[in-house]
Formats: sequence, C-alpha cells, structure tokens
Amino acid sequence: AIERTLSIIKPDAVAKNVIGQIYARFEGAGLKVVAARMMQLSQAEAEAFYAVHKARPFFGDLVKFMISGPVMVQVLEGEGAIAKNRELMGATDPKKADKGTIRADFADSIDANAVHGSDAAETAAVEVAFFFPGMQICSR
Ligand code: CMP
Repeated sequence: AIERTLSIIKPDAVAKNVIGQIYARFEGAGLKVVAARMMQLSQAEAEAFYAVHKARPFFGDLVKFMISGPVMVQVLEGEGAIAKNRELMGATDPKKADKGTIRADFADSIDANAVHGSDAAETAAVEVAFFFPGMQICSR
C-alpha cells in the first residue's frame, strides 16, 4: 500500500551538510518528499515529539541533542514507505547498522544517529500530524 512516514534529518547530519545525500537515498528507493521544513526545535517541541520515550534513561540526552541545531523534517510517500525508510536508515545504533545504510554511512553514535523515521502506521500518522497540517502535504 502507498504509505506516508515522517522522517527527520537530525542536527548531526544537517551539520555534516549531507541533507542532499540523504534525500538522494530516499529518491533512489522510490520514496517521494511530499512535505518538508527545516526548523530549530524548541525544548518543549522535542519533549512532545518524543513523549513516548519520556520514562527512558536516555530521554534527557535525546532532547538535548535534538535541540542542538536545526533539523530537516519531511514526509516521505510511497509503496511501503514506513518499512522502506527504516531499511534505508539501518539500525538505531550505527554500530549495528548494515553496511550502506544511512546510519552506517553518516551516524556517529546512538544519540547522533543522523535520522529518525516512524516505526509503524499508527506512529507515522501521529508524527506526520505533529509537524504538518494536511493542507501542507503535496501528495503526488
Ligand atoms: P529515534 O529513532 O529518533 O528514536 C528515539 C531516539 O533515542 C533514537 O532514535 C536514538 O537516537 C535515541 N536513543 C538513545 N539511546 C537509545 C537506546 N538505548 N535505545 C533506543 N534509542 C536510543
């Protein structure tokens, strides 16, 4: 099925100037960018976006990292977009990510891991709506 998923290029990858290289991987896999915005997250926004992780020991560091610089946020659309994006990203911990994945190639640590992608249909819907009202999505 055609799906939409939320993708974030995190502050480490934006600082490395590899937004275009990461977009090329999305496009090469048949995923379309149907909405995008670059933004500096506030602490409240980062805490709200990652609210499911609030009780985890890494929550504080995660929020601090996500507000350390601008992020590039996009909606990707395509056949099986959620799983396809997760394949492109590789494992959360770049040390465990398969060769040729975005995290293997661009990430430095489990915190500075270059990208975020929704993990399931339910979270994708919530995460897309968090950043983009429906009218800002250019389905194509
Ligand atoms: P992300 O997919 O953005 O979702 C939550 C983030 O928390 C994750 O990527 C990692 O960058 C970060 N994180 C830090 N430590 C851990 C951990 N032990 N398990 C999962 N995520 C972690």
